[in-house]
Amino acid sequence: MRDLQDRVTVIVGGGGGIGRAVAVNLASKGCHLALADINETALAESVEAIGETSVKVTTHQLDVTSAKGVAAFKDDVILKHGKANILINCAGITLQKKFETHSIEDWDWAINLNLWGTLHTCREFLPELKKTNGDAHLMNISSMTGFVGLPNQTSYCATKGAIKGLTEALWGELKADGIGVTVVHPGAIKTDMIKATLEHSDDVEWAKRNYEMVKKIGTDVDYAAAKMVKAIIKNKARIRIGKDAVIFDLLTRIMPTSVTRLITWAEARENAKRAKSA
Ligand SMILES: NC(=O)c1ccc[n+]([C@@H]2O[C@H](COP(=O)([O-])OP(=O)(O)OC[C@H]3O[C@@H](n4cnc5c(N)ncnc54)[C@H](O)[C@@H]3O)[C@@H](O)[C@H]2O)c1
Repeated sequence: MRDLQDRVTVIVGGGGGIGRAVAVNLASKGCHLALADINETALAESVEAIGETSVKVTTHQLDVTSAKGVAAFKDDVILKHGKANILINCAGITLQKKFETHSIEDWDWAINLNLWGTLHTCREFLPELKKTNGDAHLMNISSMTGFVGLPNQTSYCATKGAIKGLTEALWGELKADGIGVTVVHPGAIKTDMIKATLEHSDDVEWAKRNYEMVKKIGTDVDYAAAKMVKAIIKNKARIRIGKDAVIFDLLTRIMPTSVTRLITWAEARENAKRAKSA
């Protein structure tokens, strides 16, 4: 999709770090926006971040885990904008917990939001994307954990691996319709996502360390957004964001278990250090 002017983009998770940064970038390119999020305050902050603009921006309070809610959201977008050219799925959460301490509710939360949320929006909006006669793009966010399993993130890795498979398969299916499809594999991005895991971790010390590390070495969210928008313009099937994602991807190709080994080793070393100083 070479020109974004006057296209309508639906961003689910538009109140969050990556969703908001993508919204600001797209508005600057003349793209109209339908921003959805469970958090109404966050949506209002996104509108504020976009600032004075000539494009139409609508906000929609939505729990993306609800199939009925997503269907009503689609109707609302079409009523207010008349069409949908681009769908970007940005809503997602992660839990930093061992598999053994994941409850069924934890699994339901991760799968319903990260996987079913994306499935619901794809199901509802695909017919609308098809109505544009190929002037359309679908973008789903996986993660670097889509190609490498990391300890203490079983539910996240399971859902992000599923998003990778789903999106690559859709790329193949939608090629004939001229609809571009991109799967995004970010490494650590400086947003509040990791901070939120402090409430959902069985090792708060470890989660805090990860949060501090992301704050220090994570990729800037505006850079991530610019890369995602460029991928839509250039119709890229797959992008990785951040050096960590690129390195993990390459290492995993050369030595498939190397990254998981490395992280497990670092965790064991840290645990031993903590046990010694306790
Ligand atoms: N930040 C990172 O380091 C990173 C790395 C890899 C992948 N990702 C992925 O990128 C996407 C965006 O992450 P982010 O960093 O912007 O996170 P974020 O926490 O800043 O934003 C996520 C947004 O999703 C919204 N949301 C949560 N539950 C919802 C629901 N039920 N319905 C609708 N909206 C809901 C939140 O209110 C929030 O605004 C996620 O899919 C995440 O897994 C992030």
